[in-house]
Amino acid sequence: MNFKKENILVVDDNNDMLDLVQRQLKSSNYRTYKASSVTEAIEVLKQSNINLLISDINMPDINGLELLKYAEEHYPSLPKLVISGIPSIHNVVSAMKSGALDYLTKPFTSDELNKAITNCLVKTDLMLPNESSQNENTYGEIIGHSSQFKEIIEIIKRIKDTKANVLIEGETGTGKELIAKAIHFTGKFGNKPLITVNCGGIPENLIESELFGHVKGAFTGASETRTGLFQAADGGTIFLDEIGNAPMAVQTRLLRVLQEKEIVRVGSTRPEKIDIRIICATNSNLEEMVSKGTFREDLYYRINIVNIKTTALRNRKEDLPLLIKTFIEKYSKEYNKSNLKINEKVTEVLFRYDWPGNIRELENLIHRMVIMSDDSIDLNHVPDHLKYHIPSSQDIFKSLKEYEKEQILKVLSFVNNNKTKAAQILQIDRKTLNQKIL
Ligand SMILES: Nc1ncnc2c1ncn2[C@@H]1O[C@H](COP(=O)(O)OP(=O)(O)OP(=O)(O)O)[C@@H](O)[C@H]1O
Ligand SMILES: [Mg+2]
Repeated sequence: MNFKKENILVVDDNNDMLDLVQRQLKSSNYRTYKASSVTEAIEVLKQSNINLLISDINMPDINGLELLKYAEEHYPSLPKLVISGIPSIHNVVSAMKSGALDYLTKPFTSDELNKAITNCLVKTDLMLPNESSQNENTYGEIIGHSSQFKEIIEIIKRIKDTKANVLIEGETGTGKELIAKAIHFTGKFGNKPLITVNCGGIPENLIESELFGHVKGAFTGASETRTGLFQAADGGTIFLDEIGNAPMAVQTRLLRVLQEKEIVRVGSTRPEKIDIRIICATNSNLEEMVSKGTFREDLYYRINIVNIKTTALRNRKEDLPLLIKTFIEKYSKEYNKSNLKINEKVTEVLFRYDWPGNIRELENLIHRMVIMSDDSIDLNHVPDHLKYHIPSSQDIFKSLKEYEKEQILKVLSFVNNNKTKAAQILQIDRKTLNQKIL
């Protein structure tokens, strides 16, 4: 068997569980090491070159969290994944604080395990200053080479090592979360936690205690004191996704955190210091919400120190060829379909479409088309609503000059911005080409 390069250590006091995980990992071609206690695990870490640690938390004698802390101290760049039977915020928070990158609840499927492992390894790769594997068309997991993309990368590079608050605005599927991840993982606090909170996804009555924690007896059901997500992210980044959905009461508390750099648990009056970077994202128009009085103006200014606006895919179609190529490569590799071609007519349809779901929609479509095709993606694999799409009136009323520029940019991106080649294809000279894209 050809093993992958990663050596994985699995730690669990339950032997059946160890065997199960080992079988799952073996079928995915990972080399595995087993330990049924923390003491045994430390021995393996010392003797073998382990690249990923997977550990249970609840074990007799020494708790798995102690192992995570030990590993964090002695092998700080070793990615750690927790598998545990009790999915409580408290456990997740403690695991994250001890350096775990992900948390998987037992029982899990082979697929879930593989996904979590890949995630951990990708995150670790992103954290390493691995400039050589990044070319000028990618940054972290973000792909693109339009001027809008380059501007965003410039901003990310400028702010990644700072604690400045960032607001990312843009339509759905334009990569807001990818940008947040890139800021965190490529920055110097990338080895600290990144905690993502979907502000619209937590029930309103729980959101304050989830974010800030609570003290015992703060409300019915608060049987013990709990740490909140802000404290779990201490030293790192908290990503407040869909910030436009945060209720007023939470907005008021957030403002306090931003102003005072401290949190107060629900039911307590004692402030606790935190050192955190806040990245917010939204696809609603916060400025409009401010003018309607549904979003606090003072909070808006506080979170909007650095502003990143993503551009809809229909307004930067010059990124399409690169994205199409990358997604085809990604999925044809996943489904073992080497040399998969795409019919030119399909590319034309993809160019005409205006992508309301942006890159997410494009990626999902290509994923589906790769599955459906044998050696070539043809028109019959394209859904009807795309094939018969009528360009928006905005497109119809474009001037010839605009069409010309779009065509030139398309050709340029196909030839990797080689202007001499592009000029040859378009049968114009280089100077004219330069003038026309101004
Ligand atoms: N520039 C990009 N390069 C590669 N993949 C991208 C890019 N932008 C988005 N994607 C892919 O599109 C999908 C959606 O991205 P992401 O979740 O970051 O979008 P979002 O703006 O947060 O969307 P939403 O507002 O719906 O939450 C993901 O699968 C992501 O990998
Ligand atoms: Mg998102």
